[in-house]
Formats: sequence, C-alpha cells, structure tokens
Amino acid sequence: MAFAESARESWGKRYGDEAPMLDASLDIFLRHRSVRKFSPMPISEGRIAGLVAAGQSASTSSNLQMWSLVSVQDPERRKQIAALCGNQKQIIECAWFFAVLLDHHRTRVVAESAGIDPDGLDTYECMLVGAIDAALAAERMVCAAEAQGLGICYIGALRNRPAEVAELLNLPHGTFGVFGLCIGVPADDEKGDIKPRLDQHAIWFEEQYPDEIDFEPYNARMSSSLAERGLTFTWAEQVGRRVQLEGMSGREALGNYLRSIGIGVR
Ligand SMILES: Cc1cc2nc3c(=O)[nH]c(=O)nc-3n(C[C@H](O)[C@H](O)[C@H](O)COP(=O)(O)O)c2cc1C
Repeated sequence: MAFAESARESWGKRYGDEAPMLDASLDIFLRHRSVRKFSPMPISEGRIAGLVAAGQSASTSSNLQMWSLVSVQDPERRKQIAALCGNQKQIIECAWFFAVLLDHHRTRVVAESAGIDPDGLDTYECMLVGAIDAALAAERMVCAAEAQGLGICYIGALRNRPAEVAELLNLPHGTFGVFGLCIGVPADDEKGDIKPRLDQHAIWFEEQYPDEIDFEPYNARMSSSLAERGLTFTWAEQVGRRVQLEGMSGREALGNYLRSIGIGVR
C-alpha cells in the first residue's frame, strides 16, 4: 500500500480541523503511521545503507555518536527476538530489523585509546546522551524510509527482556537495545491509519507551562478513533494503564538492569 495523503489531508486526520497553509514538504512527515503488516518484498542492502547514512547525519551530542545498530536478518534469530518482544509478527515479517543501541562501549574504547579514563560514562547524563542520540538517528532513518514509500514500526518491547536480548546479540557491557526498528514495504492490505494527535495547545505552551492542560477535546477524538477499531476504552484510560507498574511488561525493572551494566549509575 503506497500512502499518499497530502499534508492538508493528514492535518485533518491529526487534529480534526482545517489545516492552515502547509508546505508540500510536510506531506511525508504528517502522513506517518506505524506499519505492522509488511510485504515479503526485499530491500537491497545498498538502499538500507542510504537510510543508515540519513540516520548518521542526525545531530549528535558533542559528535560523540553514542549509538549503534545491530541488523538482524537471520530468520531464526528474528524469531528469537520476536519471542523476547511479545511475539510481534512484524519483527519476523519486515525486510530489515534493527536493534538500536545506546552504545557506551565504543565510547569507552575510543576514550581509552586516547589514554583517557571515561569515568563519567556511568552518569545519568551519559545515559540520556546515548538514548537521545539513538532516538534522533533512528527517527532520521524513519523519515528517509517513509520518504521512499517504505513503512516502519518501532519496537519498544526490545526493552522487555534486556539481558536476553543482550545475550542473543552479543552486546558488550555498556550497550543497551533502546528499541527495535522494523523497516519494509507495507503490505497491500495494510491500511495503517493516520492517528489523531493532541491539539497543539495541549503540547505547545507559550512562555510558561500552564496551570491546566485541556486534553479533553483530544481524549474525545482519540477515544472515538479507538471505538472505530472496536476498542471500548478511552485514550486517557489507555495512558493511565500504560504508566501503571503492572502494565509495563517487565520494563519497570529496567533501572536495575541498566545499573548492572554500568549505565545511569549516578
Ligand atoms: C520508542 C517507541 C516504541 C514503540 N514500540 C512499539 C512496539 O513494541 N510495538 C508496536 O506495535 N508499536 C510500537 N510503537 C509504535 C507506537 O505504538 C505508535 O507510534 C503510536 O501508537 C502512534 O501511532 P502511529 O505511529 O501510527 O502514529 C513504538 C513507538 C515508539 C516511538
């Protein structure tokens, strides 16, 4: 399925109202949707190298480039990854699967090669630097992929069982799979709806954070979008459940795991 909405059409789906003047360069950004059904069509390694170059072209804190990718193409290993990530079938079916890593290991090796002890790598600051670098780079890969008509799905479930993921991918101490990324050609019958997003006044505040946030119009729009898909809970309920300890699929213990591999210790 080739997605082809104009920015104006996508705006209507995001916010439920009329778009202002929108530049056509926004078309590819506003029409994003996660794709979970992929065609078996392969994507060449050369084409993927272009997407990786887009990712590497992202800004990166102090040019540290504190992130890495592990592509997983072996079908058996894909199955094992999928099993560690709640059996999400898009992990098996996509043309390319990447584990996107926060990488303190390479940073340590580089610093030590210059005779410097990287004794600040275990700070929260360096944890954030690596996670931010990984996310910015991945999202550039995503934008490049979507600009070419490919589909993507992030996989946060890669954090469900981090020690097992680390073992499967031979990750060294100080590296951590922040999320997975599926890339492929969307299946012909993949509709992949454009989801409504919060009204801009609920996320873009002028000068100071407001005393109250009016999210109700969005809650109503998003909840009817959920109802159209046969789901009977509201968006607010979905949010609430997702940030309850019991809804975190094991990720509530991530702090302990990260500290055990020297990340975010202080
Ligand atoms: C870091 C991150 C992790 C995600 N993890 C998953 C996942 O494990 N499985 C999945 O199907 N979608 C995952 N998603 C996709 C989100 O569910 C999706 O982006 C969100 O519902 C908004 O829908 P949209 O991308 O279609 O606009 C993830 C997205 C992000 C940014």
